[in-house]
Amino acid sequence: MHIDEITNWLKETGPARLDRLYARADSTRRQYVGDVVHFRGLIEVSNYCVRSCTYCGVRAENLALKRYRLSRTEILDCAKRAAMLGYGTVVLQGGEDYGIAPAWFANIIRHIKQETNLAVTLSMGERNEWDLAEWREAGADRYLLRYETSDQELYRKIHPTVPGHPTRLALLRKLRQMGYEIGSGVMIGIPGQSYASLANDIALFRELDLDMIGVGPYIPHPATPLGNGSLALTLSPDEQVPATEDMSYKVIALTRLACPDTNIPSTTALATINAANGRELGLQRGANVVMPNLTPVSCRPLYEIYPSKACVTEEPADCSRCLRGRVQSIGRRPADGPGNRRKLDYRPQPQFAF
Ligand code: 5AD
Ligand code: FES
Repeated sequence: MHIDEITNWLKETGPARLDRLYARADSTRRQYVGDVVHFRGLIEVSNYCVRSCTYCGVRAENLALKRYRLSRTEILDCAKRAAMLGYGTVVLQGGEDYGIAPAWFANIIRHIKQETNLAVTLSMGERNEWDLAEWREAGADRYLLRYETSDQELYRKIHPTVPGHPTRLALLRKLRQMGYEIGSGVMIGIPGQSYASLANDIALFRELDLDMIGVGPYIPHPATPLGNGSLALTLSPDEQVPATEDMSYKVIALTRLACPDTNIPSTTALATINAANGRELGLQRGANVVMPNLTPVSCRPLYEIYPSKACVTEEPADCSRCLRGRVQSIGRRPADGPGNRRKLDYRPQPQFAF
């Protein structure tokens, strides 16, 4: 699908051309998902992780990081807070933590579903099929699992795999069969990512017909092989995608054009590289979701997948107020309800030539 056209857009630097791309993405967003913005409250339930992703600050080898796991009461309190703040969804996210027993977690999911009207999204890594099925059975609605890059060779270098484990793509297909809404995404500008491979990532979003797509700039973490330079994945400067703010907007816009009816967040990583108005610009260039943080403030600094993350000291109510204000300041409004994807019966072919 239009790989060359997507690649050309990713390389485009002319301000007038880029304004046209952003205007097109914004009108496509308005046409297919409207002016409302969905609020998904993020609860970072655990920073324990068994995996060794070479980009991620919570990787198992980062022994300097203090680890935490929220209690049942803490998770349920955060979920109640989400309902009180008027959010439609809670996202339970964590490292791949087998200290989270499937039955214990299923009980928490069941409780949230019984006590609130919240949709429950999980983002708990590459758990086995039985755990994922148990959580679906308990009422979880959606699952997020980014494939990070569609370039298999690069993927192997940044994400050491466990022998015998299914790939993330295979797991995403399983999750869909189980009845979850599925979300995925990639980092923008990870070392070794070429323009052609990023264009393929976007084409794959469409091919997988994802319900949710999260993209954000790669931010180096000094306690990781990719961040401290001990793993160098060097491409020539004309091939390597830069991890910039502008590139992030281009990817959000192109993703909206490729997948008009999908839910796309304006991510925290984007707010981290432009605290002033990164989130607003994301929402004006294709995104329709924000993810306010609900994690207890005492744990926030420990969920450090990358440094200087936005909203590390703010209380949940602060993030709520802040994001409502930001959404309203650009003429949009917070949505009511859980904000499921409203899937088109017929997806028009995307147009990238204009
Ligand atoms: N920079 C930006 N994003 C990161 N993620 C993990 N580490 C980093 C980093 N250093 C993203 C990954 C993961 C999601 C939860 O956070 O895409 O899937
Ligand atoms: Fe957390 Fe703005 S969203 S302070």
